[in-house]
Amino acid sequence: MTRTTGSLPSIRVRTPGGEYDIVIARGAFGDPDAWGGLPKASQAVIVSNTRVAPLYAAALQQALAPHYRQVSLLALPDGEAYKTWETLNLVFDHLLGSGCDRKTVLFALGGGVVGDMTGFAAACYMRGVPFVQVPTTLLAQVDSSVGGKTAINHALGKNMIGAFYQPVRVVCDLATLDTLPPREFAAGLAEVIKYGPIADAAFLDWIEDELEALIAREPAALSYAIGRSCEIKAWVVGQDERESGLRAILNFGHTFGHAIEAGLGYGQWLHGEAVACGMLMASDLSACLGLVPEAFVARMRALLQRAGLPTRAPGIGVERFVELMRIDKKAEAGEIRFVVIETPGRAIVRPAPDALVREVIRRHSEAELP
Ligand code: NAD
Ligand code: GLY
Repeated sequence: MTRTTGSLPSIRVRTPGGEYDIVIARGAFGDPDAWGGLPKASQAVIVSNTRVAPLYAAALQQALAPHYRQVSLLALPDGEAYKTWETLNLVFDHLLGSGCDRKTVLFALGGGVVGDMTGFAAACYMRGVPFVQVPTTLLAQVDSSVGGKTAINHALGKNMIGAFYQPVRVVCDLATLDTLPPREFAAGLAEVIKYGPIADAAFLDWIEDELEALIAREPAALSYAIGRSCEIKAWVVGQDERESGLRAILNFGHTFGHAIEAGLGYGQWLHGEAVACGMLMASDLSACLGLVPEAFVARMRALLQRAGLPTRAPGIGVERFVELMRIDKKAEAGEIRFVVIETPGRAIVRPAPDALVREVIRRHSEAELP
């Protein structure tokens, strides 16, 4: 890792919208160095959910007590289905009801759903208050807590209402992953795997070699995987905070994946599961475009399967699949753009011939549901 925050290892994120450290350590909650030097305020608010709060809110409250006169807790309902305006309003109700001012610091304690919603609430409340990401899922630690994308869902599209708003710090306590269910852990592994093909061929080799250690959640393997993932994400968003170019590579597998999530109805497949299957489809598309050899597709399939991730899309139907991809945020004037692999470790974004895309969907999907 590139630096330390107090005595803790950390990675610096530098964007026009803000500079901050990602602290990554087992036991970070209990280390005063993780919480020093944050913006001063009389109040802090921990925004969490009904599943994570009983596990970790007390430890976080204790860690923050020396820094704020009042630390309150808001536990939102748990789940992607609650990433809505109605739930966002519960945050504003709490902030206004508790007399929070423009300096109040919000702490997002939970997975990507809590992180995205708290970040958006922080961006809006009194036109912007500081917030700290305290991610407790693997997916949130390696992806959603870093880079300042915040959002809620709309009935017509996922993450369609939001803002770019950077946190003032990210604190990843690896011990929180001990309680993460295996399915959620595997979904996070999909986003770890993603960084290899798009940015670092050696990291892809390393993941292949160390996958069993990762699945066993061995601290040294986890720490390296999370640190390297965050370094890559910090490097990408440092060059392109607002996704005018390079940042789109972080969406490898997401165009196909979003169609799976939306086609089945949100919550059927986990985001990381849909991304896993989408990465395989995008790898095959890369091969169809003559960029990578067939062997790369087989390699991705083997790795994703070993990680316990799905590699066959549900039977949404080719026409519906394509239609759903057209409302992806990366689509421009209705033209779908795909993140494809040029060579392991390097990705580009480009359109692809319709017939090839349809063929890839057909090849990787179950028979159409009646
Ligand atoms: P999540 O937030 O729904 O968490 C998954 C489940 O695990 C939830 O039930 C949660 O309560 C529970 N949980 C969290 N931490 C736990 C722990 N330590 N122990 C036990 N249970 C725990 O899902 P997620 O996978 O973390 O995040 C997915 C969300 O992130 C999606 O809404 C997606 O759109 C968003 N996302 C955002 C970005 C971004 O850049 N902002 C990137 C990727 C994904
Ligand atoms: N997860 C994609 C991004 O942060 O840009």
